[in-house]
Amino acid sequence: MCGIIGFCGNEEAVPILLEGLEKLEYRGYDSAGVAVLSDEGTLKIRKCKGRIASLREKIGSESPITGTVGIGHTRWATHGEPNDVNAHPQAGMSGRIVVVHNGIIENYRELREFLERRGYKFQSETDTEVVAQLMEYYYMGRGELMDAVYSMLDRIKGSYALGILCSDFPGQIIAARKDAPLLIGYGEGSNYIASDVTALLSHTRTVSYLEDEEVAVLSKDSVTVYDSGRLQVEKELHTVEWDVSAAEKGGYSHFMIKEIMEQPEAIRKTVSPRLRDGRIYFEELAEDADLIKNCSSIYIVGCGSAYHVGVVGKYMLEKALRIPVEVCLASEFRYSDPIVGPDSLVIVISQSGETLDTMAAMREAKKLGAKTLAIVNVIGSSIAREADHVIYTWAGPEIAVATTKAYSTQLVLLSMLTVYFQHQLGKISEDDYGAYIAALTDLPDKMNEILDNIGNIQKTASKYFNLDSMFFIGRNIDYALGLEGSLKLKEISYIHSESYAAGELKHGTISLMEPGVLVVAIATCKSVMDKTFSNMVEATSRGADAVVLTTEESAKTFEDSVRAILAVPETHDLLQANLNIVPLQLFAYYVALNRGCDIDKPRNLAKSVTVE
Ligand code: AGP
Repeated sequence: MCGIIGFCGNEEAVPILLEGLEKLEYRGYDSAGVAVLSDEGTLKIRKCKGRIASLREKIGSESPITGTVGIGHTRWATHGEPNDVNAHPQAGMSGRIVVVHNGIIENYRELREFLERRGYKFQSETDTEVVAQLMEYYYMGRGELMDAVYSMLDRIKGSYALGILCSDFPGQIIAARKDAPLLIGYGEGSNYIASDVTALLSHTRTVSYLEDEEVAVLSKDSVTVYDSGRLQVEKELHTVEWDVSAAEKGGYSHFMIKEIMEQPEAIRKTVSPRLRDGRIYFEELAEDADLIKNCSSIYIVGCGSAYHVGVVGKYMLEKALRIPVEVCLASEFRYSDPIVGPDSLVIVISQSGETLDTMAAMREAKKLGAKTLAIVNVIGSSIAREADHVIYTWAGPEIAVATTKAYSTQLVLLSMLTVYFQHQLGKISEDDYGAYIAALTDLPDKMNEILDNIGNIQKTASKYFNLDSMFFIGRNIDYALGLEGSLKLKEISYIHSESYAAGELKHGTISLMEPGVLVVAIATCKSVMDKTFSNMVEATSRGADAVVLTTEESAKTFEDSVRAILAVPETHDLLQANLNIVPLQLFAYYVALNRGCDIDKPRNLAKSVTVE
């Protein structure tokens, strides 16, 4: 949610800032801007509503801005509509202080009134302008830049990642963070700030992660970091292994389809290092061997697709371990007075590792004494750093706003955790363990079988892409998958879609079944397949059309009753969801493609949601 980039070095800043912003655009894309500071201390801003391409055009058409220090921002609006004035950077009244910001300043109204009473005039509706003006207020009063930074940080409440320039200090960027991601990149004769590593990969792989309430001062030759008490902090440097090409489209028309296609490989990378001699090993949990033995309840917490993975996880873990599992939306968890204590295991799931609601839920769980285990994709992200245990999905950078490969790798990890814990509790036979490992090893190939034969899915999508309403139904894990299939469809195609436990349809929603409505029935769980079939027929009897997602072995059952069948190979019960999700992702993708939607950057969304 909002992307920040900052650069100080020997080269012109603008091209580097624009390139970085293009990499960060998936974080928010309603407006963008840059501010550049020249060696003489001239600060210039260019910003506008729209994508980075519009900003590029604006910069190209106006008088050039030069300087080797600069900050840039791509915005997902929180306060104030997306327009030129509300775009970042925001400047203080005298133009000496300029700020880019990710997060929300919760007390901005009170601070704005405070400043207005002292004669400050505001241009924008943003909370960020308050930061710039407040800092200027302190700076003009005392003439001490770092005093002004700390005084401003003391007064603001909420979350922030900040990049700050001051025209009296050419050659310098100040950065600060609290509850919003910001990292520092170390180059040769150049240093950077960025919201995530994808913006830095073409410049440097050496990074450090700012912690909450730390403040960094960057020049082209140095980076100094201070804690909230203004004491200097030694930062640990990390080397980022991600490949630059992993964050490029590589010939695909969208990141989403590229990432769908990458899933077999992503699964392989997630699974193989954790398999040895037919057994699952989680080195990450080695120091807490009794984690599951000491646990009487499990919570799975996440948002959006990560929450949907949790719903699948509940079915898997409860059945295998006979330990109660509750799945919670992260945004509800901390306000619901959860019954969590030292004998609870709280599994938090997050691709970005920065989702504020998930982070807050994890902190609440820790406060209540629970053990926390985070399943995260982005290495070094805030959630990964704060959890008691972290298991990385190793899916590589995921750029499309709609998650696919992160979801799949989270799913496979939950199934592996299920079997790993089941074994530790002595609740799985050798034969069953062996059967699971065999299926796990085969999983990427079976996924490839689906990905090599997408014609039928494309055909089905082109048949139904212009409908206004779709329902995804299923039972058990198939129901949990419907949640994700429905979210995928609505977020990228803007078709109204809902997901229901198949048996629940007749308790109200069946009133919506009529011609022009499509029901996607997911029927792969053998024990409840017939029942889902009946629920689907109840819908088609009322005029709805139906598409069935089932296994190749069961396809015959449905042949006479529906116009389209999406068949997937059969696999182990704990892994079937990993195959089933692929046609659902592809269906959503091709429906959106047919509708001409902006698939990688759907309206109103952002990849990483760092506000409440
Ligand atoms: C799914 O396609 C979404 N874009 C969204 O629901 C996402 O899964 C959610 O915001 C959670 O993000 P996280 O995994 O980075 O925490």
